[in-house]
This record gives sequence, C-alpha cells and structure tokens, in this order.
Amino acid sequence: MQNVFVFDHPLIQHKISLLRDKNTNTKEFRELVSEIAMLMGYEVTRNMPLKEVEIETPVGIAKTKIISGKKLGIVPILRAGLGMVDGMLRLLPMAKVGHIGLYRNPETLQPVEYYCKLPVDADEREMVVLDPMLATGGSASAAIKFIKARGVSSIKLMCLIAAPEGISRINKDHPDVEVYCAAVDERLNDHAYIVPGLGDAGDRLFGTK
Ligand code: PRP
Ligand code: URA
Repeated sequence: MQNVFVFDHPLIQHKISLLRDKNTNTKEFRELVSEIAMLMGYEVTRNMPLKEVEIETPVGIAKTKIISGKKLGIVPILRAGLGMVDGMLRLLPMAKVGHIGLYRNPETLQPVEYYCKLPVDADEREMVVLDPMLATGGSASAAIKFIKARGVSSIKLMCLIAAPEGISRINKDHPDVEVYCAAVDERLNDHAYIVPGLGDAGDRLFGTK
C-alpha cells in the first residue's frame, strides 16, 4: 500500500471506537463523524502554502504568515460524505464545497452516479474527497475520476475506515492520490461491507435503518 496515512492520534482512535459501537445512536454518530473529520482535517491541511504578511498589532508590526492563494475545495460523496462537511468547514470556512452523488448497486457493487456539481474554479484548488467508508474503492475511484475530468490536478481522499481492497484500488487507479484514514480494517465480507467496520455509514448518519 502506498500513499496511505493512518491517523493514530488518541482522540481520533477513541472517537472511532465509539463510532463503531452498534449502540451509538444517530445523534452521537453524526457528532462523532463531524468531530473526527475536523481532527483529521487539521493534519490533511498541514501542507497548505503560506505567505508572509505584516500585521499591525496594538504594540508594533508583526511579520507573520497567512494561507496563500485559493483555499481548498471539499467534495463529499453523497450521502455519507455529507457527515464530514461541517467538521471540515469549521476549520476552513472559506472552502468551496462540491457534491458527487454515487450509490453502490447492491447486486453489482458498482457505483452509480446521480449527481455531480463542482466549484467553477475547482481546477485552481486542491480538492479533498470526503467519504467515511472506503470499501471496494469503486465509489471513491469514480469520484476522483470525475474530479480529474474537470482538470483538477491535486486531490486527496479522506475517509474514516478503509479496507485493504479499497486502498489497493485507489493506489492502482489513482497513484497520485494520497489516502488519509483513521483505521485500516481486516477485510470485506460477501456484501462488500467492511469487517469489522461500523455498518452502513449513510444509514447510521441519517437514521434510515
Ligand atoms: C457507501 C459509502 C461509500 C461506498 C463505499 O455509500 O459511503 O460511498 O458505500 O463503498 P465502495 O468503496 O465499495 O464503493 P452507499 O453506496 O451505501 O451510499 P449512501 O452513502 O447513499 O448510503
Ligand atoms: N458502505 C458502508 O456504509 N459501509 C461499509 O462497510 C461498506 C460500504
């Protein structure tokens, strides 16, 4: 596996454990996804370019730094990626938000596209794709393909729980894309659910099951 960064920060690991618990209710699940996204976002944005500026403080001039150029764009994969948007926007309130609608056909397990709207200046931004689950990797790979087709050259994928199969798929289809996650689980089951995982992220976030 290449280009994979697994966050082992104790706060992230603790919250991932609560998220996995089948007794965690929808309200708690939603809050945890948002909090983990914010904590991960702090590291994912570590390489944002800075420029020097002079700021007048009450007692003098400080030579200091601010983020330079256009801010990031974030692209949640609908539905479950929506749960990670708030946390990222708390860190990056000026980030533009694109949306890609994909669902996995339960029989073929292939991603089916139903929506795609990206910021007009997406090609001038670094785009971070958000989805809590990287299972077969089909959905994330398709989303990254759409974003690349819009001329975006810098893309990162941020998920919460990844299966080895999903990471391999992204490595193969998009070797230029870094994958950030909080856990790499054992395997997929016969329905391509991550084991032990956390179940269906979309259903748990929105209370649809
Ligand atoms: C889930 C999840 C990912 C996808 C991962 O979405 O949020 O988008 O499955 O599976 P993959 O790596 O095998 O493609 P789902 O298709 O259940 O749609 P939903 O978010 O609307 O519930
Ligand atoms: N999608 C989910 O929500 N969970 C999984 O384990 C796999 C795909």
